[in-house]
Amino acid sequence: MATLGPDDESFELKQDQELRFEVENAPIEIEVTSGLAEIFGVELVKSKKYLFPIGAKGAVFTWQGCAITMKNARKNMTYVSKDTTPMNYYMNVHIILEKQRDEAENDSKRGPITMIVGPQDVGKSTLCHILLNYAVRMPGLNRKPIFIDLDVGQGEISVPGTIGALVIERPATIEDGFSQLAPIVYNFGHLTPTANMDLYQHCVERLWKSVDERMNKDAKTNASGMIINTCGWIKGDGFKCLLACAKRLRVDNILVLDQERLYQELKRDLPKTTDVVLLHKSGGVVDRTRQYRSEARDKRIKEYFYGSRLKPFNPHSFDVKFGEVQIYKIGAPVLPDSCMPLGVTATDFLTKVVLVQPGPSLLHHLLAMSFATTEQEIIDTNIIGFVCVTNVDMQRQTISVLCLQARPLPCTKLILTDIQYMDSN
Ligand SMILES: Nc1ncnc2c1ncn2[C@@H]1O[C@H](COP(=O)(O)OP(=O)(O)OP(=O)(O)O)[C@@H](O)[C@H]1O
Ligand SMILES: [Mg+2]
Repeated sequence: MATLGPDDESFELKQDQELRFEVENAPIEIEVTSGLAEIFGVELVKSKKYLFPIGAKGAVFTWQGCAITMKNARKNMTYVSKDTTPMNYYMNVHIILEKQRDEAENDSKRGPITMIVGPQDVGKSTLCHILLNYAVRMPGLNRKPIFIDLDVGQGEISVPGTIGALVIERPATIEDGFSQLAPIVYNFGHLTPTANMDLYQHCVERLWKSVDERMNKDAKTNASGMIINTCGWIKGDGFKCLLACAKRLRVDNILVLDQERLYQELKRDLPKTTDVVLLHKSGGVVDRTRQYRSEARDKRIKEYFYGSRLKPFNPHSFDVKFGEVQIYKIGAPVLPDSCMPLGVTATDFLTKVVLVQPGPSLLHHLLAMSFATTEQEIIDTNIIGFVCVTNVDMQRQTISVLCLQARPLPCTKLILTDIQYMDSN
C-alpha cells in the first residue's frame, strides 16, 4: 500500500455504504486495500489503482464492508454516505430479472425487456450499468443481455445523435465502460427527439427489427432479455414518446426512478401486462449543468475517433472529392396541411431523404456512413460509422474528413447530421 500524502485519505466503509466522489480539482486514484467493493456493478480489483480524471463523478459501494485509500481526496468533493443507498432495491430488481431469465431459458422464450425511465439526473444510466453488470457477473450462467440506449443526448453507444444496441457479454471496465464491439447503430442526427419525432420513432422501430433478428438467432441473448436506457424528457410529448418506445420495444418491465407522477401516468396508460415499478434515486446522483452535458458529448465524440487513455486509436485524415460521394440529409420542411398533396402526410416529409450540395456549411459536422443502395435504405438501415468534416475546399471541390479507417471511404453514401465536433488534435 502506498503511503498517504497530505491530500490523500483512507476510508473504512461499513456494509451497504458508499464513498461518493466528484473530481473537480485534481485527478483522484482509488485503491481498495481490504474487503470487496464495486463501482456501478463493476467489481474493483484489490490493490489495483484506478485513476479518475477531472469531471468524473461516481461512488464506490460495498455490500460487505471495505477499506479504501484515495489520492487527492481532500482536493475534491468526497464523502461516505450517511443515508441508506437504494442498492438493496436495485438488487431485488436484479433477482426478479434473473428469475424471469431462468424461466425464459427453460421455456425457450424471450427474457425480460426492461426499460428505465425518469427525469434528468436521477441515475437512469447508472442503474442500466448496475443491472447489466450484475447479469453478466452471474457465475456459470453465461448471460448475454442486450443494452439498448435510446438517449440521443447523453447515451453511451457510438456518438451523440444515435440510438443503438450492444450485446453485453462481460462487465464494463472502470476505465472504458462496456466493450463497443459491433454495436447496432441507427443515425438520428439530432441531440433531442423533439427535432424530428417521426424520424426518431422510425429509428426506434428499425432498431427493434435488427435487435429482434439478432435475438432470434441466439438463444442465450434471447433469454437474457434487454435493458433499455432512455432520456430524461418525460413531460408532454416526451411522455408520449416514452409510451411509443415502450410499445415498439415490447417492454415487459418499466423501472421509474424518482417520480411518482410519471409512475402513475405509465400505470394508467400502459397495458396491465407491463409491470411498472417505482424506485428511489440514490442520494449520490449529481445534477449536471448544460455545459457539463455539452462537454460530455464532445468527450464522447473525441473518444469515438481517438479512443481512450488505455486504448488509443489512430484515426486517419484524408480528402474526398465532392464527386466521389453523395451526401443526404433526412427531413424536408413540412408543407401546411392545405398545400399537402393527396395521400401525403407530415411523416413523409419528416422522413424524406434529400440530396445535399457539398459546401462550407458541412464544416465540423459529423456525417454518418451508410452501405445503403437506395434512398429508402438510407433511413431504414443501420449505419457503419461516422466521419467528421475538418475542412471544405470549394476551389478543389473536396472535403477533408477524420475517419477511423484509412482512405478510401468504405461507402459512397453519407448522411449529414446536426452533430458538430471541432477537431483540435
Ligand atoms: N450513487 C452515486 N454516487 C455518486 N454519483 C453518482 C451516483 N449515482 C450516479 N452518480 C453520478 O451522477 C451522474 C448522473 O447519473 P446518471 O448519468 O446515471 O443519471 P441519468 O438519470 O442517466 O441522467 P440523464 O438524464 O442526463 O441521462 C453521473 O455522473 C453518475 O456517475
Ligand atoms: Mg442517462
